[in-house]
Amino acid sequence: MTVIAAERAETRSPKQATPRHFLMCPPEHFAVEYSINPWMDPSAPVDSRLALAQWTELKSTYERLGHTVEVVEPQPGLPDMVFAANSATVIGGRVLGAKFRAPERAAEAEHFRRWLTGRGYRDLVMPERINEAEGDFAWTGEFLLAGHGFRTDPAAHSEAQEVLGVPVISLSLVDPRYYHLDTALFVLEKGANAQVAYYPEAFSAGSRRVLERMFPDAVVADAEDAACLGLNGVSDGRNVVLPPEAAGLTRALAERGYEVHHVDIAELRKSGGGPKCCTLEIHS
Ligand code: ARG
Repeated sequence: MTVIAAERAETRSPKQATPRHFLMCPPEHFAVEYSINPWMDPSAPVDSRLALAQWTELKSTYERLGHTVEVVEPQPGLPDMVFAANSATVIGGRVLGAKFRAPERAAEAEHFRRWLTGRGYRDLVMPERINEAEGDFAWTGEFLLAGHGFRTDPAAHSEAQEVLGVPVISLSLVDPRYYHLDTALFVLEKGANAQVAYYPEAFSAGSRRVLERMFPDAVVADAEDAACLGLNGVSDGRNVVLPPEAAGLTRALAERGYEVHHVDIAELRKSGGGPKCCTLEIHS
C-alpha cells in the first residue's frame, strides 16, 4: 500500500516546464487548394482570417508560457507553409532539412533552409530522402522517434541518424488519417525519463509493442482524442497545448499533473494540422 501511495505521489509531483524555442509561420496565404491527406477537401470553405486569428492565439499562448517564438516570412502560393514543423529538424545545432513528398509543398523547405542559414546554423544538410521533418520525427531528448508509412521514406530514418548523430527508433504508421507521426504521438517530457502520449491504433502491431516497451506508463489516447488531432499537442514538460475537443486526453493529463491549455485550431484542422504542426521546435 505504502509503495503504491509513494508511486502515486511521484506521478503527481509538480511537473517542470523548460523554456522552448519555436519557429512558426503565419497562415497569411493559408487555403485548402489541393488534397494530400484525408482531412483536406478543396471544395469546403476555409476562413483564412479565422485561421490567422487561431494561429495568433497559439503563438501568444506560447509567449505567455515564457517560450521564444520566431517567425518565418509566409510565401504566396504555399498555402501549407503554416505547418512549420514539416520543414526542418534541429537538434543541438545540427539541422536536417526537409524534402516533401507532395510537389505542392516542395518549395517550403528552401525558405526554412534560408532562414536557418541566415540565423547561423552552418551544420545543415539538405536530405536525399523524403522526410517531412517533425511531422514524422519526435525528439525525446535521447531518441528520435521516426514515423513512416505515408510521407517520410523509411530510408530517411538512417539518413537522420547519420546527419543528426542521434539514435533513431522507426515506427510504422497504418491509418491514413494519421499520416504523420505527430498526428498520433507527442512527447510530454523530454530526457532520460521521457514520457509520451499516443494513439495505439495509428501504429502497426510491432510498433505498438515498441512503444509499450519504451513507454510503459505512456498516456494512451482514444479514438475521439485522435479524431480532433489531440495527439498533435505541444508540451514543455508541464504545460500542454491541446485542441479543446480533446476531452479524454485533457482529463488524463490533468490527472497526471500537467497543466492543459486549450487553443482552438479548427480552421487549420481542415488541412490536417493542429498546434504541433504549426510549431517547429529548435531543440538545444
Ligand atoms: N496539409 C498539410 C499536409 O498534408 C498538413 C501538414 C500537417 N503537419 C504536420 N506536422 N502533421 O502536408
